[in-house]
Amino acid sequence: QDARPDAADLLVWYDRHRRVLPWRALPGEVPDPYRVWLSEIMLQQTTVTAVKPYFARFLERFPDVAALAAAPEEAVMSAWAGLGYYSRARNLHACARSVAAAGGFPDTVEGLRKLPGIGAYTAGAIAAIAFDRPAAAVDGNVERVVSRLFAVDQPLPAARPALRVLAESLVPQKRPGDFAQAVMDLGATLCTSKRPACALCPWMAPCQARKEGTQETYPRKLKK
Ligand code: ADE
Repeated sequence: QDARPDAADLLVWYDRHRRVLPWRALPGEVPDPYRVWLSEIMLQQTTVTAVKPYFARFLERFPDVAALAAAPEEAVMSAWAGLGYYSRARNLHACARSVAAAGGFPDTVEGLRKLPGIGAYTAGAIAAIAFDRPAAAVDGNVERVVSRLFAVDQPLPAARPALRVLAESLVPQKRPGDFAQAVMDLGATLCTSKRPACALCPWMAPCQARKEGTQETYPRKLKK
């Protein structure tokens, strides 16, 4: 039986190759839950490149959750214009009002899940990145990484619950927030859908798909 993927190996890689992103705390900085939350909502259906200018403008207009909560709906919709999926903007505003009234963001997955616009992925991402809770943030990129590591042959979407369990099994007690961002970076830069850069991957040795040479065939998908 082969070694399991070790979070420590991924964190060594992350310390060397972490992407600098406007919503990401630098090493040693304390993350701002407002910025983490805002970025995760924007990134739900929009690419990093497209989000960057919107994120900067949003922060200028609404520097904290109190400012966003106090703003009129039209101001929020107008700052969002161009990002699409406008229910995200309406939920964002409702969420800001709820969080401002409560005096801050909940710091657990369960608490975050109750807020408008926050599903399982976003709750896990905020709990891990903003509050360093050992939570998994499982999006499409993470599903791809995990399906390859464990050569999960069950196709999507049926495999989702199994992939989540496997993703959760990898989360370390130490630096879970960095770990969540490290898996995202791995999926975005090395473990890409096409032509993954396995030779550079810190998890090459324990990757089952790589061992079989079938990495590009994961995640398996139900034939349409
Ligand atoms: N995609 C979703 N969340 C992200 C994050 N926090 N950093 C980079 N890419 C992401």
